[in-house]
Parts: sequence; structure tokens; C-alpha cells
Amino acid sequence: MKHELFERNVIILSVAVLITVAIGGLVQLVPLFTMEQTIEQVEGVRPYSPLELAGRNIYVREGCYLCHSQMIRTFRDEDERYGHYSLAAESMYDHPFQWGSKRTGPDLARVGGKYSNDWHALHLQDPRAVVPESVMPPYAHLATTELKFGDVAQHMQTLRTVGVPYTDADIAEAKSDLKAQAVGDGDTAALLERYPKAVVGDFDGDPSRVTEMDAVIAYLQMLGTLVDFSQYKAEPSFR
Ligand code: HEC
Repeated sequence: MKHELFERNVIILSVAVLITVAIGGLVQLVPLFTMEQTIEQVEGVRPYSPLELAGRNIYVREGCYLCHSQMIRTFRDEDERYGHYSLAAESMYDHPFQWGSKRTGPDLARVGGKYSNDWHALHLQDPRAVVPESVMPPYAHLATTELKFGDVAQHMQTLRTVGVPYTDADIAEAKSDLKAQAVGDGDTAALLERYPKAVVGDFDGDPSRVTEMDAVIAYLQMLGTLVDFSQYKAEPSFR
């Protein structure tokens, strides 16, 4: 039997294993070299504003991804419940991506604009105050913790090294953009030019300071809102 040849000769076996693993590795690696072509550019997708980025960090820190996915699959039930299925481009500036694999709560990929800021603030402080049957834990500390954003420019710089196209001006203005978005005063016109569709406002109801709650809500409110899907013809099999 030919099999015996491999079973009795460790060198031949090792070489065969090496070849098999190498083929598997190539299949995984080669598409990554052509990443630019793999992810189709989609109009509207932009990097996170400094406040959204800070909110995203808190989302990761608090482990929200353990209960919430951010990827709407291409199934009819998903499409009807959450909206248009997620596009690769919509998470192209996510490092790391938040697709998730567990849904104790609903998918959040298109939660932006679904509720008011007040709803989010109340829901995060006490989920059962707005959804009595909710099993989501409360995150009231976000409203009482001031946001530390001294290093937001450095974070943007780091993201730039992995391909997120922040400009020098974006990085230089990071702190003032963050404050403008969180409390609504300051140069919001410049902010909106840099980050179109950024939701500006006092999110937690306390304009005197920037809290972690402000950042998380700013992040939630932009999720899934960047691409204008009314421009795209829905695939007949999905709608
Ligand atoms: C233990 C699991 C769990 C964790 C952790 C969790 N959630 Fe939830 N979340 C839920 C469940 C269940 C619901 C559905 C009931 C509700 O609305 O409260 C929900 C609902 C939501 C909704 C409303 C979604 C919609 O479309 O109605 C938002 C927004 C949300 N969560 C944000 C967060 C954020 C932000 C965090 C982290 C700070 C977080 N969740 C952490 C379980 C969780």
C-alpha cells in the first residue's frame, strides 16, 4: 500500500505534511496581499471621529461584543430585522473588527439613529427602565466617569500606521474635534467637514464635561449610518 511509505518513513511524512500545510497557508495568505482590491471602496465610509473612536475603545473595554455582533448576515430574516446586510467596507477602518459571533442582544451594525441620545443614556444606565425584559447589565458608571482623551491623537496616529487614512490636520485637531462633537460648541463645521454625518450633541445631558457615556453614545449613533443605501438597488432575492 502506498500509505505505508508515509507511515514508515518519517522524512517523507514530514515533507508531505509541510507541503500540505504550505498549500493551506497560501490559500489563507494570498488574498491578504491584494486587500485593496478585495475590499471594494464604498462611498460614505470614513474613519471614526476622535469621539467615536474613544467610544469604540470603551465598547471594546466593556466587552459589549460578547453579547452584540456587528455584522448583518446575508439572510432574509437578518435583512428584515436589521436592515441592509453589512458590507466589508463598513468595517475596513476597524482594528480590530467587531463582527462578533455571539448574540445575547441584537446586532448593532445599524443601530445608529434608531433611538434618541436620551434613550441610549437611560438604557445604558438601567436597561430595564426602558426594556423591562432585558438581560443586559447596567453601565451607569459610564455617566459618572470623565472621558480620558489625552492620548486620542496618538491612537489615531497608530491607526494611520495600519492604513487608516487620518490626515495630519485630523490628528492635530483631534482634541478640539472631540470636544466640539461632545458638547456641541467649538468648530463643529470643521468637524463635520472632516467627519461627515458625525452626530454632534451633548449625549449624556451634562454639557459641563465629557463623560465616557458621551463617547459610547456618539459611537452607537454613527453605526451603520455612513453608507446611503437608498442609492443601491436592493437585490430581489433579499427584499
Ligand atoms: C450580557 C449581555 C449584554 C452585554 C454585555 C451588553 N448588552 Fe446590550 N443588549 C443586551 C440585550 C439582551 C439587549 C436587548 C434588550 C435591551 O434592549 O436591553 C441589548 C440591547 C442593546 C441595545 C439596543 C439594541 C436595539 O436595536 O434595540 C444597545 C444599543 C446595546 N444593547 C448596547 C450595548 C453596549 C454599548 C454594551 C456595552 C457597554 C452592551 N450593550 C453590553 C445584552 C447585552
